Amino acid sequence: MPASAKTGPAEYPKEFERDVTLKNGMRVHVRAIRPDDAPRLSELYDRLSRHTLYQRFFTTMKRLPPDWARMFASVDYRTRFAVVAEHAGEHGPELVGVGRYEPTDDPETAEVAFVVQDGWQDRGLGTILFNDILRAASERGIRRFRAYVLADNRRMLDLITRFGDIKERKTEQGVTELLFTQRGC
Ligand SMILES: CC(C)(COP(=O)(O)OP(=O)(O)OC[C@H]1O[C@@H](n2cnc3c(N)ncnc32)[C@H](O)[C@@H]1OP(=O)(O)O)[C@@H](O)C(=O)NCCC(=O)NCCS
Repeated sequence: MPASAKTGPAEYPKEFERDVTLKNGMRVHVRAIRPDDAPRLSELYDRLSRHTLYQRFFTTMKRLPPDWARMFASVDYRTRFAVVAEHAGEHGPELVGVGRYEPTDDPETAEVAFVVQDGWQDRGLGTILFNDILRAASERGIRRFRAYVLADNRRMLDLITRFGDIKERKTEQGVTELLFTQRGC
C-alpha cells in the first residue's frame, strides 16, 4: 500500500540509526531526521559553498528561511522522509549530509534530493544517504523516483545511474529530470 494511504506521522524509524566509517576513515552518525534538526539544517546551509547550494537548490539564497528549515526537519516518515549524517563539531553535533524524499502528485512516485557538505563530498556519504532514502521509500510502498539535477552535475547523475534504472530522462534549460526505479526492484 503506498505510504500516502495512511495519515499522520509514523513512529520515529530507529532502524536507520548507526555509525558509519567513510572512505577516508572519518566517522559519521546516520539517522532519520527529527524536528529538532531545524536549526542544524540552517547551520548546514550556512556552511555550504555557493556551488553546492546551487547544485542542490538551483538558487543561492543567503539564508535558509526558518520556516523552510522547520518544514524540512518535520517529516511524517511516510510520504516525506529524510536521513541525516551528523558529526561531532566543536560546538556540538553538526549535520554534514541530508537525503530526502517528498511526495509528488503520483502516490507511488517520490522526488528525491541530496546534499553533502563540501569537505565531506567524495567519501561515500552521498551513496549511503541515497541507498537509505531508496530503502525507506521502497519499504513504504514508493516504487518510482523523480530527481531534478543540473545537467552538468555528473556526480549526482552518475549516482542515480549506478543504483537506479532510468525510465525517463529529459533536459530543459540546463536541468535534467530523471524518473527511475531502484535497480533490481
Ligand atoms: C551529489 C552528492 C550528494 C554526492 O555525494 P558524495 O558524498 O559526494 O558522493 P559519493 O562520495 O558517495 O560518490 C560520488 C561518486 O561520484 C564520483 N565522482 C566524483 N566527482 C565526479 C564527477 N565530476 N563526475 C563523475 N563522478 C564523480 C566519485 O568518485 C564517487 O564514485 P566512487 O564511489 O566510485 O568513488 C554531493 O556531491 C553533493 O552534495 N553535491 C552538491 C549538491 C547536489 O548536487 N545535490 C544533488 C541534487 S538532487
